[in-house]
Amino acid sequence: MSNASTTRFHLVIDGRSVTVEAGTTVAAALVMAGAGGTRRSVSGEARAVLCGMGVCQECRVTIDGRAHVLACQTLCREGQVVCTAAAAAAADATTVGVR
Ligand code: FES
Repeated sequence: MSNASTTRFHLVIDGRSVTVEAGTTVAAALVMAGAGGTRRSVSGEARAVLCGMGVCQECRVTIDGRAHVLACQTLCREGQVVCTAAAAAAADATTVGVR
């Protein structure tokens, strides 16, 4: 439950601004931002948060330039910049054939 005194953080996920309450994990923020996934497998399949407890490694994202951070084990902080490899792959796919 939120109230007026709840601390909120503003972060950017794949270029989208997201506001979350303190205590929110980056994995939850990814869902709130509508991120389609976290990364791609070596064969190109979309991967996303699975276990939510630091075991499967499927939630790896880049946070503030640091790669392979587990989104499910990381709390949101003010000003974080989160990049998913899935978004980068989608952007690459969109630009293929444009040239
Ligand atoms: S969702 Fe499995 S390690 Fe993060």
